Amino acid sequence: MTPTSLAVLGTGLLGQGVARRLLACGLSVAVYNRSPAKAEALVPLGALLCLTPREAIEASELAILCLADAAAIRQTIFSDPLSRFLSGKSLCQMGTIGPDESRDLARLASSRGARYLESPILGNGKDAEEGRAQVMIGAESEDHDRWCRLLGLLGRCFWIGPVGKAAALKLALNQLIAAETAAFALSLGFVRRSGVPVELFLEILRGSSLYCPTFDKKLARMRDRNFTAPTFSLRLLLKDIDLFLPEADRLGVRSDALKGARRIVREAAESGRMDLDYSALIDVIDPLSPPGSPDAGARI
Ligand SMILES: NC(=O)c1ccc[n+]([C@@H]2O[C@H](COP(=O)([O-])OP(=O)(O)OC[C@H]3O[C@@H](n4cnc5c(N)ncnc54)[C@H](OP(=O)(O)O)[C@@H]3O)[C@@H](O)[C@H]2O)c1
Repeated sequence: MTPTSLAVLGTGLLGQGVARRLLACGLSVAVYNRSPAKAEALVPLGALLCLTPREAIEASELAILCLADAAAIRQTIFSDPLSRFLSGKSLCQMGTIGPDESRDLARLASSRGARYLESPILGNGKDAEEGRAQVMIGAESEDHDRWCRLLGLLGRCFWIGPVGKAAALKLALNQLIAAETAAFALSLGFVRRSGVPVELFLEILRGSSLYCPTFDKKLARMRDRNFTAPTFSLRLLLKDIDLFLPEADRLGVRSDALKGARRIVREAAESGRMDLDYSALIDVIDPLSPPGSPDAGARI
């Protein structure tokens, strides 16, 4: 085993990008995914395909966890009551989970003789693949110092503090995804239904301090109502809102605005759009008229 042998557990949208980047940097990467097809796709790039989490962790010094949520992490690596294979390994949790969940996982890892750090990232799988994500590290200094250069292959790294702090920061950033996307979809729908040229609205918006780059990133999807091949799903956005809200209550910050966005995200997710791109929330905010009505098919 070389010092740079890694494992990526969870090769969904984020894990694919992470594994591809590390492989492109010439590192040895073992990959595991619950449904193996997504991990198999990485084999032609040089990944070692593992059919169990244990196999992947045993083949590596640092295992990067790109799993959906804390429950998935527990199921994947902590379901064996002893998990002896974790002893001496480092686990780097990269998904978006709650600060308390992350601290609990750190305790679990420690009880199995493993080191634990969190490194949630801002950016999508493609950003990670291209080394331009932002990586927020929550860790003890020795784990930060040991792994920050390697994590820096994915993008710019920031050491936020001990475990839990980076998880909290990531939630603060992700609630903006819901808030900004819902607000933009609302204005788009309002403009469209008012008969104001959308290009004029956009031109004025782009020249103002109200503009966010995410608006143009999601514009084509919202215009074409094309939410397939997501970069980030409504399912996971709803999960992040549900992590944020209780934490906000605990901290004593008012989250009424986000609660409104949550109703929209939930309605969109529960109407068959769960695994579509989160920009699909526009379908709830500004539904297109049913076929046959005078406004049918009207697009932005
Ligand atoms: N996509 C992004 O842009 C992005 C950016 C930053 C952070 N994140 C965060 O990173 C994490 C992964 O996101 P993603 O977009 O890659 O999600 P995804 O494409 O839906 O992938 C989820 C991964 O978790 C696995 N998984 C889910 N439930 C599981 C369970 N019970 N047991 C074992 N494995 C399970 C899935 O395995 P299967 O394939 O077998 O279902 C898959 O590997 C999430 O916490 C997300 O919030 C995502």
